[in-house]
Amino acid sequence: MKIIHFLTIDSTNKYLKLNYSKLDNFDIVYANNQSEGKGRLNHIWESDDKQNLLMSVLIKDEKIIEHGSLLTLLTGYCVYNYLKSINLKNIKIKWPNDIFINDKKICGILVESKSENDKIIAMIIGIGLNVNQTFKNSTLKATSIYQETNIRYEIIDVLNDIKKELINCFKDNKSLIKTLKIINENNYLLNKKCAIELNNKKEICIVKNINDDGSINVLIDNKEIKIISNELILI
Ligand code: BTN
Repeated sequence: MKIIHFLTIDSTNKYLKLNYSKLDNFDIVYANNQSEGKGRLNHIWESDDKQNLLMSVLIKDEKIIEHGSLLTLLTGYCVYNYLKSINLKNIKIKWPNDIFINDKKICGILVESKSENDKIIAMIIGIGLNVNQTFKNSTLKATSIYQETNIRYEIIDVLNDIKKELINCFKDNKSLIKTLKIINENNYLLNKKCAIELNNKKEICIVKNINDDGSINVLIDNKEIKIISNELILI
């Protein structure tokens, strides 16, 4: 379990996607700064130099890869647990890949995969967690650990604590049902009204619970529909 550090890099996820064959399960890369930090749906992930945790974890263990569709939510649960352990309150998991505190985003997760002959052989878990940055622009709706607690944290300490949470969560899947229950108890979108595009048509829905395959249910005209990857835009 190596930890590789860069002062600056294009993207820690990209580094693991290019170098996975030379690296082992649970090797981690992190950086002070990213020039091409990537978020979900090709968004850019921005972060001030040295202020935040920008890390990617390589997964090669087949038993973990089997849970592919759940990996983003399980990682969210690990970050949720870490934030809870340092006494943060009102932490919510926003399906499919964010952690929110008091309606502000504190963490984004980007899971990517590497395939050979149509088989997934590695997964990359990218975590961008706002640690010491202050967000002056309130329209950004972002927060950080520092902004919530007034305490500054060493980035490497946060990394090691989150690594422990990930190892603990992925070591067996006995507790998966319990984990999904906690994810649902802290489902940020639960009962919220969202816009969603389905078959090229914009619909309004009410968000319901997260399923054990990582999908989420929504109600459209009182009919329950299972959503796998469509974007849910809060309205
Ligand atoms: C999102 O909110 O859309 C996901 C953001 C994920 C950002 C992290 S930062 C470390 C890793 N490297 C990247 O380029 N992206 C992820």
